[in-house]
Amino acid sequence: MSKEHYNLLTLKNGELTGPLASVVKAEDYPRDFQTITLFALSRFHPRGINLLGIDVGLDENGQFLAEPTGLLAKGMGQKMADNITTSIRKKGEPLLRRDAQLIYTLFQPPIPSEPMTKVLASRLQTERTGRPFPATHTMQITTACQCDCVHCSAVRFRNPENKQLTTDEAKSFIRQSLELGVVNMIFTGGEPLLRSDLFELISAVDKKEAIAMIFTNGLLLTKENVQKLVDAGLFSLMVSLDSPEPQEHNTMRCTEKCWEKAVEGIRRCLDAGLLCGISTYATPERVRNGKVVEMIELGRRLGVHEITIFDVVPTGRLLRHEEGELLTDADKQEICRMEDDYNARKGYPHIVTQAHVNGPSGGGCYAAWFQLYSTAYGDITPCDFTPLTFGNIRNEPLKAIWERMTSHPSYCTRLDHCRMQDHAFRKRWIDDIPTKGPFPFPIERFDAADFVREVEEEVEQRTSIGLRA
Ligand SMILES: C[S@@+](CC[C@H](N)C(=O)[O-])C[C@H]1O[C@@H](n2cnc3c(N)ncnc32)[C@H](O)[C@@H]1O
Ligand code: SF4
Repeated sequence: MSKEHYNLLTLKNGELTGPLASVVKAEDYPRDFQTITLFALSRFHPRGINLLGIDVGLDENGQFLAEPTGLLAKGMGQKMADNITTSIRKKGEPLLRRDAQLIYTLFQPPIPSEPMTKVLASRLQTERTGRPFPATHTMQITTACQCDCVHCSAVRFRNPENKQLTTDEAKSFIRQSLELGVVNMIFTGGEPLLRSDLFELISAVDKKEAIAMIFTNGLLLTKENVQKLVDAGLFSLMVSLDSPEPQEHNTMRCTEKCWEKAVEGIRRCLDAGLLCGISTYATPERVRNGKVVEMIELGRRLGVHEITIFDVVPTGRLLRHEEGELLTDADKQEICRMEDDYNARKGYPHIVTQAHVNGPSGGGCYAAWFQLYSTAYGDITPCDFTPLTFGNIRNEPLKAIWERMTSHPSYCTRLDHCRMQDHAFRKRWIDDIPTKGPFPFPIERFDAADFVREVEEEVEQRTSIGLRA
């Protein structure tokens, strides 16, 4: 077996260190003579005493295997290693094997890797404390964009009066995110490649702690930029294609040759060895008229590694979308069926769907559970699509905002489907946001008297011109 060793818990200078150190409590180890001696001896050990570690790698059949090491290897260590081995083998074939690492999706660090060890420690911490940690931070770094998409989720966040985060502010924000548990830093926009310090921000993500990813419309994937992304250490990127048909995509994005340039960019990224996927979204019409399947076929022809299929979300430009235009439960079941079907086939890109990931068969709504989003001005929201903010990074540490957001009545319980597509959630938290904003809307304003007055006025206005309240 070719294997890598990761320290999880080390006793050094009389203190516990390593990714599991914050998980272990004083009452977890006996304060007997042996333990006290061990703590004392650790002061003389140059590298510290290995209490628990794991050897991870592939066995002779190419199967993932985790084996415990250290003084706690026999009891707790063996159980933990067996659980890890079982849960990873259950995932089936990875989309790629690279340098004895398994890559299951473009959204997660390879296995094994240091960021993955961090995930493990955070999960154990969640099990103990019941408190979630953000694995993914989607960071909008600019609101500027060359396109003007009919569905754009980000458009309402644009406010020329606000100042976007500087490079230094963004870097400190990245650091805080990694410290909070983030293992995937996603840079988005607007169009992230319009910001000249994008490469510097990607480089600022410590690759021992997290992977860096971008979402792009593909217009600026020139040879030079692709090389700069590689040099900065980008792990993966998603290029958006809304339709398999060039003309339809260009019309939806109000941009000439957008499809052609995006496809050219995808080819360049693949040639440069980047992990590259397509990001698209499903509408009821596209599920039923076969366009989603055509997109998967296009992805196969292009040779992309993954296709992400979002649900059409009633947010941004589609905020006041009619319910009839959203995916039904039957549409989502069909999307999940397609996902299973294509993921079982050889020669196709890996398929990830929002219908599965945040539906009943996946982990449920991921907003403020394992994800957070921030606008170009530093406002923190639960996910890319939720126009509600719980604070601004310029005023408070990220940890304080995360704690407040995850313990707020709207987010402290799990939901097995997307909140932004949930009628009751929208009625309580979204429908009353005044059309003029601000976006994202500060959640605490729901209780303010002036807001209640504004809502009453707006409802009156909307009713008098025949719009639904
Ligand atoms: C907001 S864009 C930002 C990054 C970049 N400009 C791009 O187009 O990829 C990120 C992704 O979200 C998708 N998206 C935007 N609005 C959406 C909506 N209302 N419902 C579903 N997906 C949406 C886009 O198509 C794109 O793939
Ligand atoms: S979805 Fe992306 S490409 Fe389209 S307008 Fe919004 S930010 Fe720009």
